[in-house]
Amino acid sequence: MFIDSLSVGENGHLYISGCDTVELAKEYGTPLYVMSEDKVREVCRRYVDSFKVNYQGNGLPIYASKAFSCKEIYKIVVDEGLDVEVVSGGELYTALQAGVSPAHIHFQGNNKSYQEIEMAIDNKVADIVIDNLSELARVQEISKDRDVVTSVSIRVKPGIDAHTHDLIRTGQIDSKFGVALENGDAFSMVEKITNLSHVTLTGLHCHIGSQIHEIEPFVLAAKVMLDFYADIYQKLDVTLKTLNLGGGFGIKYTQDDNTIPYEDYMKAVSKAVHAKCEQHSLVIPKIMIEPGRSVVGEAGITLYTVGDVKEIPEVRNYVAIDGGMFENPRYSLYKAEYTFVVANRAGESADYIASIAGKCCETDLLQEHTKIQKPHNGEILASLSTGAYNFAMASNYNRNPRPAVVVVTNGESRLAVRRETYEDIMARDL
Ligand code: LLP
Repeated sequence: MFIDSLSVGENGHLYISGCDTVELAKEYGTPLYVMSEDKVREVCRRYVDSFKVNYQGNGLPIYASKAFSCKEIYKIVVDEGLDVEVVSGGELYTALQAGVSPAHIHFQGNNKSYQEIEMAIDNKVADIVIDNLSELARVQEISKDRDVVTSVSIRVKPGIDAHTHDLIRTGQIDSKFGVALENGDAFSMVEKITNLSHVTLTGLHCHIGSQIHEIEPFVLAAKVMLDFYADIYQKLDVTLKTLNLGGGFGIKYTQDDNTIPYEDYMKAVSKAVHAKCEQHSLVIPKIMIEPGRSVVGEAGITLYTVGDVKEIPEVRNYVAIDGGMFENPRYSLYKAEYTFVVANRAGESADYIASIAGKCCETDLLQEHTKIQKPHNGEILASLSTGAYNFAMASNYNRNPRPAVVVVTNGESRLAVRRETYEDIMARDL
């Protein structure tokens, strides 16, 4: 299997972290999200080790929890030494409930509400990443009201198009996130913060995209940001302590995805950081990254029970499953590619061309014209690399209960999030 936590057992079943997926489906029901704890921990360690190697520990991986947020996952990543990034009151609440120390939580996101900012400040999170001027005013006002000084960084649009390699100096202005470098907005926000009484600027933040399979855009972003640090130092005599370069590292959804080892990104970016700091005689700031997808994506699979198979001659074969866009909207939204495997016959050759159809009253396909083992009603179908942005983006469309999450490690499984019930769905109806 192209993901190392997956294997095919002697019984021909798909295994994840030593657990038989067919048994998991029997025990916990389907659809079911299964997360390999081993895999999540392995990726976390690779990031932590990379910081040791490339920055002598003067750096920090922060888990972007929008990719997958539940108590269990926060506990695992924090145990491995990562901080966490949250983008909403809900994620912040979940992280706090998981026992994450607020000093390790970074609050990010555009259009944070007054209440969310109050919640972040009252809980003393590590910092707030400021998106725009009116948000800055809210943070200053709330901090002043409580007579505290809040650490902030600024979300900067560095003008990098991650998918073309180009340094685009105009296009990136058209993004709802952050303030642009090219038109001077970022500089004036830095200047403004240095004059505020209850807000202190620790550093800057950028994030250039997601599911990126190239090193160069990350290197460019680091260079552009550090040129800006030099500018800030020269013009304002301000030395920024931290630089957050965001997330975006690509993962394998299919055999053909050409991923780059995370260590390679880290090494190349570190080289650029060191060179730029030397060029500008800057003290190297504490470098942070914010991966989400790469921490949890390949660790997850989703198990389904196959329903009816509808073969329409000369058109296509529909394989219906008990999931759909309510538990994985990514094909509907982005035509995202996935690999499907008949879990109880994973060793057999995959030569049946199928379109995987969900159970929503929509054309909710999860994949089209994909090759799987010919499935039959009642068999178990697995979708691979579903750890990121599946559970996180699930809904109750058609009043479908959201699946449970099971965490597996070394042949053991445990329930992390129970399956939603109809009562749960009804709980807010008055
Ligand atoms: N930091 C910031 C500020 C971000 O906006 C994101 C992702 C990340 C970090 C983590 O990026 P990652 O390492 O996961 O690529 N729903 C979409 C993905 C949206 C990503 C949004 N921001 C999907 O399913 O592909």
